Amino acid sequence: MSTRGAERKIRIGLLGCGVVGAGVVWAVAQSERRVARRRGVQLEVVRIAVRDVDRPRPQHVDPLLLTSNWRDVVTAPDVDVVVEAMGGLSPAEEAITLALRSGKHVVTANKQLIAARGEVLSELAMSIGRSLLFDAAVGAAIPVLHVLDSYYGANHIIALRGIVNGTSNYILTQMDRDGLSFAEALREAQAAGYAEADPTADVEGWDALAKLQVLTRTAFGLSVPADGVARSGISSVQREDLALAAELGWKLKHVVEVTVQNGLVRARVGPALVAPSDLLFGIDGVHNGLVVSSDLAGDLLFAGAGAGAEPTASAIVEDVLKAVEQVGGTTRAAAAESGSSCGTARPTGTGSAQGVKFAEPTARGVVVTLPTSGNNLFGGRAGAELLYHRLAAQPGLLVEQVQPIATTHAEAAWVVTGELVPTVVQQVAQALWRVPATSYPVYGTALPLDGAAAFCEPVRLPSGLS
Ligand code: NAP
Ligand code: HSE
Repeated sequence: MSTRGAERKIRIGLLGCGVVGAGVVWAVAQSERRVARRRGVQLEVVRIAVRDVDRPRPQHVDPLLLTSNWRDVVTAPDVDVVVEAMGGLSPAEEAITLALRSGKHVVTANKQLIAARGEVLSELAMSIGRSLLFDAAVGAAIPVLHVLDSYYGANHIIALRGIVNGTSNYILTQMDRDGLSFAEALREAQAAGYAEADPTADVEGWDALAKLQVLTRTAFGLSVPADGVARSGISSVQREDLALAAELGWKLKHVVEVTVQNGLVRARVGPALVAPSDLLFGIDGVHNGLVVSSDLAGDLLFAGAGAGAEPTASAIVEDVLKAVEQVGGTTRAAAAESGSSCGTARPTGTGSAQGVKFAEPTARGVVVTLPTSGNNLFGGRAGAELLYHRLAAQPGLLVEQVQPIATTHAEAAWVVTGELVPTVVQQVAQALWRVPATSYPVYGTALPLDGAAAFCEPVRLPSGLS
């Protein structure tokens, strides 16, 4: 059935019809009239590859379109754009490569593949004048890669910091707000379609790391190897940590962060405490938020739904329209010829890791805790003084003060301020008291503390004494 107002058809070959793929079928059906009216094109899903054609599908998916052979989809003459929504590295990479070589534009939501092989695939796409777009791979509905690629021309980007894994944010929010266990909250995230096929990717920080790699390449033109990033997930977060955060009036979030300065990349993926003054404080549930810091614009927050069928499909369908418009014009081929990274097609940058050093980002505030063990040997002012002296003796740490926190949720807890590397603070506390310690960087104003907890006086010794 032709759509009134449409001048030409864009035929989509879909790889995968799970959460995202079925969402794409739905989004195409929902938006076809307005797309025809506004863009003069008729979108149509003409073929769908799945693993198991007999598996039950949502009602809006036409079973006659299904095949178990992805090669047939990516080489079909009646397909203009291939949408890859299978996930994983293989056969997704082979499928995208063959699709591009067969003259198709490609849109994908696959951050794992783009993080690992994005440069190679983008170069291939450029070399043959096809589009490879992946806005859905980071932040789902939030067009943050598009903004990083096309908006920041005059500004110098200094840092990126954000919540980019919807599953982790959903789990932490549900544990904190509704008192759910980690396992219960994860089950809810899976049922809602937020989690990866293997949720280890979400809860151990791998998914967020892949997104950070894609963001870094887009914003800074730099490829960061996975082992250049300090990474941890939320699987080791304890109820006590959330309770302590709540007691302070803060929130515990899973945060990614990267700064690039003078050939030094400081990148981190892991839990952090977020104070109410921070832009990320209100990012709850499945929402994602990314703070882009640049010299002229300052801090801009981009936020919205970070996972789920419709938000992800939204980004994919917008990319499908972009892919065809872009190459239908001149930008892609012209960009390839001039070697420039042009427009929203977003080649992934040419910087490599060569000559670049990697380190953990420093923090202005770190909370370090020792677990509850039933005795009271560590806390109070004496503990703070000990910690202050040990930290002050560390090369590279500029400690301002150590403030003990009176809390029922840990044996001892301190807020340390200065120019700090969070894991070094943790290691020092661990070595001092010979028990496992936890450390969380604090974003937003770390001091003065205005939470409900009672605080002792901070320890701030004259520098000559340390
Ligand atoms: P999913 O629900 O597990 O769906 C994967 C689909 O791919 C299934 O339909 C599966 O077929 C199909 N598939 C897997 N291997 C295949 C093969 N060899 N040949 C043909 N079909 C194959 O996964 P999803 O949540 O939709 O995620 C898909 C991609 O989108 C991933 O890269 C993910 O990281 C990304 N993403 C997901 C979200 C989200 O909120 N879920 C958001 C942004 C990005 P069967 O149905 O027959 O098993
Ligand atoms: N599993 C991912 C998440 C999907 O929870 O953020 C969106 O990329």
